Amino acid sequence: MATQRHALSSKSEFESALERAYASQIDNHAGAVADYIPELTKANPDHFGMAIATAKGRIFEVGNTDIPFTIQSVSKAFVFCLALELAGPELVAERVGVEPSGDPFNAIVFDPGTNRPFNPMVNAGAIAVAGIIYEKLGKDAFAFLIDRFSDAAGNRLDLNQSVYQSEAETGHRNRAIAHLLLANDALAVPPDEALDLYFRQCSINVSAADLAWMGATFANMGTNPVTKKFAFDIAAVRSTLAVMFTCGMYDYAGHWAYDVGIPAKSGVGGGIVGVVNRQLGIASYSPRLDPKGNSVRGVGGFQVLADHFGLHAFDCTNIGSSFISSLVR
Ligand code: DON
Repeated sequence: MATQRHALSSKSEFESALERAYASQIDNHAGAVADYIPELTKANPDHFGMAIATAKGRIFEVGNTDIPFTIQSVSKAFVFCLALELAGPELVAERVGVEPSGDPFNAIVFDPGTNRPFNPMVNAGAIAVAGIIYEKLGKDAFAFLIDRFSDAAGNRLDLNQSVYQSEAETGHRNRAIAHLLLANDALAVPPDEALDLYFRQCSINVSAADLAWMGATFANMGTNPVTKKFAFDIAAVRSTLAVMFTCGMYDYAGHWAYDVGIPAKSGVGGGIVGVVNRQLGIASYSPRLDPKGNSVRGVGGFQVLADHFGLHAFDCTNIGSSFISSLVR
């Protein structure tokens, strides 16, 4: 693993680091656009963008950072955070665990000790969490989610209707999961309501820039760094980052923690968001996925950035992080 460090002499160091990460991946054509939801196949496989937003309110971008794509499973992190705020950690813990599963995101598997989903970052856990939001807010649930996502992004987000319909028409595996959740007492609302909310949350359009700001809002303890608008509860952010660190990249989570070492969440739309606590939101968009459902160029680009700045949580010096903190105004 390359660990060459670069002294940060000016703010443009962010841009050159992004350009380096981008250049390292632009010729990487490995992987394939997700096709199990028909509408996702319409993504342009060549699009690639990366963005870094700081907790002090600046953004640096390279490539296609303004192209909309559906947030997909990246939503799971933000919705989990909102469920903790709305329902409290005790009720959430009754419905979903916080253990890595080591299984694919759509696995039909439950913790044998509790009969609950292993964690909120896999589909089973995320559907249970959507059920909690619906239990608390009923028909207002989706408006609440998209409003808070928009507050975090500092930009009004919208629903991609055709992806939503495509998900709803083809999500039979998720339907099976929802009914098992009901049978296991991990769902207290009709499965169709939890599923509908889950399909909608996955179908929210974002750009890489939006995602970077959403990550920066987590980094900034739940408040958007530019608008100063509250989006997430501070205690819930801490719990969410912990689960992102251990479970955010599915059955690649261990490798990710080992190589990149920051809390992150990926989605089959091709997005990844990463958070450097109190400092940065980092996002990538490139729709070609590896067999585990993570964006190939995104994983590669994050690796380059983490090495460049020394972002890994357990980097022995973490020099990059302290440099960034002192440079960003
Ligand atoms: O449940 C699904 O199939 C999607 N709506 C979300 C999946 C997803 O993004 C998993 N990601 N890697």
